Amino acid sequence: MEKLVITGKTHLKGEVTISGAKNAAVAILPATLLIDGICTIDNLPNISDVKMSCKILEDLGAKITWNTPNEITIDTRHINKTVASEELTRKFRASYYMIGSMLGRKGAITVGMPGGCKLGARPIDQHIKGFEALGATVEVSQGKITATASELTGTSIYMDVVSVGATINVMLASVLAKGTTVIDNAAKEPHIVDVANFLNTMGADIRGAGTDVIKINGVEKLTGNSTYSIVPDQIEAGTFMLAAVASQGDILIKNCISKHLESLTAKIIEIGGQVEDYGDSIRVKMDKRPSKATIKTLPYPGFPTDLQPQMGVTLSIAEGTSRIIESIWESRFQYTEELNKMGAQITAQGKTAFFEGVSSLYGSPVYASDLRAGAALIIAGIIAEGKTEVYNLEHIDRGYENIEEKFRKLGAKIERVEE
Ligand code: EPU
Repeated sequence: MEKLVITGKTHLKGEVTISGAKNAAVAILPATLLIDGICTIDNLPNISDVKMSCKILEDLGAKITWNTPNEITIDTRHINKTVASEELTRKFRASYYMIGSMLGRKGAITVGMPGGCKLGARPIDQHIKGFEALGATVEVSQGKITATASELTGTSIYMDVVSVGATINVMLASVLAKGTTVIDNAAKEPHIVDVANFLNTMGADIRGAGTDVIKINGVEKLTGNSTYSIVPDQIEAGTFMLAAVASQGDILIKNCISKHLESLTAKIIEIGGQVEDYGDSIRVKMDKRPSKATIKTLPYPGFPTDLQPQMGVTLSIAEGTSRIIESIWESRFQYTEELNKMGAQITAQGKTAFFEGVSSLYGSPVYASDLRAGAALIIAGIIAEGKTEVYNLEHIDRGYENIEEKFRKLGAKIERVEE
C-alpha cells in the first residue's frame, strides 16, 4: 500500500501549471464514440479515471494511441460490442457517459452500475428520464444498466434537479437524434461547455451550453479528423489557490481560466487573501491566518462542492468560527473527522459543519475517504506541524496528475512511499 508522507509546516511558494479538467476528459472520451472516425485529444490529464475510460473504449473496439502522456489519438471506427466491461464501469462514476454515447452510436449498451466517490446517494433518475424522453428503453437490474433504442427523437426535457452528469449524458444521446432536443434547467459547469465545444468541433450542432437551456439540433454524423484541447481543470486550480491561502504562501497558478473561479476568488478575498487575476493565470498570496466565513456549495457559478473540503481545511485554521453548508452531496464531511485527528475543531451534522478555528494543525496518520477529501488532507499535512501520513491514495490518483510532484515544486516536503 502506498502513502504520502508529508512534513509540515511549509509556506508554499512558486508556480504550478494546471492540467486538463478531469470532469471534461471523462465525458469527452466516451463522446468520441459518436464520431465513427479518428480524432486527437490534447491537454488530457494523466490520471487513473482517464486511463479507465480509455480501457473501456478499447474493450468496446476503439484503437487508442498515446502520442504523449497528455495526448491521444482515438479511432472509433470499429466499435464491435454493446456490452461494456462490468468490472471497469463499476470502478468510477463517469462510466455512465458510455450510455448516452453508445445510445447515439449503436442504439444499445449495457454497463455495470457506475461507482465513484462515496458521497451519499448518487441517483441517476434524471439521466434515465432524459434517455426515455428521447425514445430509449432503460432497464436497471442486478447491478447493470441496459439502454436500447431503435431510434432517438429530439424532444424537450426539463431536468428536475440541476445535474452535471444528466445534462452531459442527455446531450450525448441527442447529438445524432432526429430533430431538436431542448434541455431545460441544465447544469452550467465549464466542463459542460467543453463537451459541447468538443462535439461541435467534430460536427455537432449544440447551442446554449453554459446557460440553463441547451438546444441540440441532431445531425446525421460527426466528422472527426480534428484535434481538441481539453479545458484547464478549475477544481485543480482552486485546490492550489486554497493551498496558497491555507499555507500562508504565494503561488502563481498557470494554465487556468480565472473566470471559472470567481466564486472562490471572492471568498479568498473575503477571508483576507490577495488575488491577482491575469485571465489565464492567477496569483494567490496570504500572509496571515484567514478570517472566518460562511460558505454554501451550489451548482456553477456558485461555490463548487468539489472545493468544499479544501476550503474546510483552510477554515479549520481561521480566526473565529466558520460554517459550511453542503447542499449537493449528503456525505461530504467525512474528511472533518480526519482533520479533527490533526487538532481541528469541527462539528459536522447533516449538511452543515461548524469550524472553530485553531491556530495550528498537528501531523497524524489520516485516510482519504474520496478524491477531494484526499486533496484537503494533503493541504492539511503541508500546513500542520510535524509528520502526516495520508492513506488511500487511489482516490487522489483518480483526479490529480502528479500531485506530489506539483506540491514538491512549491516547496512541500512530500514523498510517496510504499508501506
Ligand atoms: N442527482 C439526482 N438525480 C440524478 C442526478 C443527480 O438527484 O439523476 C442529484 C445528486 O444526488 C446531487 C445533485 O443532483 O445531489 C448533483 O449531482 P450531479 O449529477 O451534478 O453530479 P455528478 O454528475 O454525479 C459531477 C462530478 C462530481 C461533482 C458533481 C457536482 C463528474 C464525473 N463528477 O458528478 O465530481 O461533485 O458533478 O458538481 O463530473 C469530483 O470531481 O470529486 C466529483 C465528485
